Amino acid sequence: MTRKKVLITGASRGLGLAISKALAADYTLVLHASSDASFKESIPGSHILCADFSDPLQIASFCKRLKSEHGEDLYAVINNAGMAIDKSLVFQPERDIDAMISVNLKAPIMISKAVMKMFTVNKRGVIINISSCVGQSGNAFQSVYAATKAGLVSFSKSLAREVGVLCEEHHIRILSVSPGLIETDMFAGIPETERNKFLKMIPANRPGKAEEVAETVAFLLSDKASYINGANISIDGGLL
Ligand SMILES: NC(=O)c1ccc[n+]([C@@H]2O[C@H](COP(=O)([O-])OP(=O)(O)OC[C@H]3O[C@@H](n4cnc5c(N)ncnc54)[C@H](OP(=O)(O)O)[C@@H]3O)[C@@H](O)[C@H]2O)c1
Repeated sequence: MTRKKVLITGASRGLGLAISKALAADYTLVLHASSDASFKESIPGSHILCADFSDPLQIASFCKRLKSEHGEDLYAVINNAGMAIDKSLVFQPERDIDAMISVNLKAPIMISKAVMKMFTVNKRGVIINISSCVGQSGNAFQSVYAATKAGLVSFSKSLAREVGVLCEEHHIRILSVSPGLIETDMFAGIPETERNKFLKMIPANRPGKAEEVAETVAFLLSDKASYINGANISIDGGLL
């Protein structure tokens, strides 16, 4: 049986790398990062497709290459690449605002747009958008980041509904995942006082591991989750 092909953005480290490792045995992977140099570990048999998503022109050329090189047989997309530049809105430069909107929201939307036609023709496909708990709760000094992540949740729900209108019978699922505090480079970048504040709100009394998010994504991608659609799944140790 041919292996299904899955694109994972932001696969060079953190959650994206953990998701790549969790899927490598069962899927053919197309791995993305901002540049080839970002990959410190290689996954045998995977394809690499790089672009800096803070540049809308690079998003456009990435989508073009995705369609021409993998458009025929791509089964799923994990929109995971993301960036957070934490600052009071008053002091946030417009270029940082544009970069977060472009990487966290525009790129997932344009990639989804690039694959949706093929998914609706094939009547199968999965898109999993990696949002964040702060997309629902909001968070001081993360207003723009949180807004992009909230956008991903409603984008996923809306697109799932749209597919239901466009296709009578299909196996297309669009969903989002909202991790809480997970140990990655992004976690390491959070000031200690802020991290401790979050840790006090987690009933599990610890941050999550990238592998715990990856295993949930692997389940959601599989046919075992065939009736989970339009949902936003929290992976946050019960963060209150
Ligand atoms: N860690 C957490 O606690 C947490 C919690 C909630 C949600 N999330 C979300 O989970 C996702 C993964 O986070 P993470 O913690 O694994 O982050 P990370 O360790 O900082 O990794 C970020 C990934 O995104 C890519 N990326 C960043 N800026 C990019 C750009 N301009 N163009 C293209 N790719 C870019 C990076 O590629 P390069 O290596 O090339 O820079 C890297 O592969 C993000 O969407 C994040 O918002 C994380």
